[in-house]
Amino acid sequence: MDTLTAQATSGLDLAALAAANLTPVLGRYFERSWARGEGHHLYDTSGKAYLDFANGIAVSVLGHRHPAVTAAIHAQVDALIAPCAAMGYAESTVRHARLLAEFLPESLDSVFFMNSGSEAIEAALKLARRVTGRPGIIAFRGGFHGRTIGAASITSSNINYRQGYEPLLPGVYLSPFPSVYREFAGDEERAVEVSLKHLRDLLATTIPPSAVAAMILEPVQGEGGYIPAPPTFLRALREICDDHGILLIADEVQAGFGRTGRMWSFEHAGIVPDVVCMAKAIANGLPLSAIATSKALQERWGKSAHGTTFGGNPVSCAAGIAVLETIRAERLVENSAARGAELMAGLRTIAAGDPRIGDVRGLGLMIGVEFVRDPATREPDGSLCEAVIQGCADAGLLLISCGVEHNVIRWIAPLNVTPDEIDEALGVFGRVLRELPAHPEAGRI
Ligand SMILES: Cc1ncc(COP(=O)(O)O)c(C=O)c1O
Repeated sequence: MDTLTAQATSGLDLAALAAANLTPVLGRYFERSWARGEGHHLYDTSGKAYLDFANGIAVSVLGHRHPAVTAAIHAQVDALIAPCAAMGYAESTVRHARLLAEFLPESLDSVFFMNSGSEAIEAALKLARRVTGRPGIIAFRGGFHGRTIGAASITSSNINYRQGYEPLLPGVYLSPFPSVYREFAGDEERAVEVSLKHLRDLLATTIPPSAVAAMILEPVQGEGGYIPAPPTFLRALREICDDHGILLIADEVQAGFGRTGRMWSFEHAGIVPDVVCMAKAIANGLPLSAIATSKALQERWGKSAHGTTFGGNPVSCAAGIAVLETIRAERLVENSAARGAELMAGLRTIAAGDPRIGDVRGLGLMIGVEFVRDPATREPDGSLCEAVIQGCADAGLLLISCGVEHNVIRWIAPLNVTPDEIDEALGVFGRVLRELPAHPEAGRI
């Protein structure tokens, strides 16, 4: 028996082991113990296989142990591991920046590497303030940008990210996000009109545009419920920012790297932000993040205006190069769009026969299925959502939730998912949903 198989069948209960010394603070979707990942499957310590449609929350987008990524990591580990950011240059870091620029709009040609999504957000906020000399930041309600103090200050997808941490960053203003289904019963035009009215009111009554450094948003809200911003809304934001010298920051941490059927989710609106924040999928599992802007903007930010110890680590960047090369060679952005359309069609068929599903929405392979107690009132049903997730896991399919009320299942299949795997996942999901009581009570699943 090889080591991997031995681990996979050890039966170790890691949750029990963790109880002694591993923090109880971290929230977890499952109390399962993971031994290994292979392709699109995770294996628990008893050897049970799970089709992984969660990917560590949109991280391992090429699947586990992807041969190109693993080979790149091995080769880099044998050559140079330690970071060199302040010492000079490492080849994989330089090459990764260059390759990333090829995947971005032409004007976004300068990359600053860091380690996590939150860190990329912090950097974007710092850049915006120093470059514009203005204090104000406008973010959008329901958004999630991370857990460091700056990122938490612009986050409002759940009170738990803010509560007890006040005073948060001053100068932050929250404006409504056009949440088309939940707030406007599907009326996209009205959602955009009302949200823009609130934004214009904010700029007229509360903070003048001349004091605003940046507007920041997720073009598709992630934690907030897998909610795409209507393209007209994003285009209006671009226009307002242009009119007033405000920087537009796109948080592509969850939606980037082909997830939405385009390389970047802002592309659906035909706009180009001033700053793009990216992380998660960037290195298929190794810690890495980045912001990309024009070279001119980073020159204005200024030498030593920001820094990092581990950012742009050569091993993570080697993995990042393999990710981009694989996305290009295997046409995975196109696969995301094609498989996403199949998944969307299958989910909409299931939803058509089940009034407990209030909405199925999304772009590419970033699809949200929202559960409600009553389609007329759209009262959220978080208990049903949780029951479906645990039922699917028991049946060998990993899905996770999102949404302010934890009542949305987010579908985050790997970018190289196959039509058969989409069918398999739809089959499991449909069966688990059918077999559950109409509205399971919380804690009695
Ligand atoms: C859209 C978005 N921004 C920022 C973050 C923060 O990233 P990290 O957890 O790597 O700090 C996340 C993480 O889920 C995210 O989804």
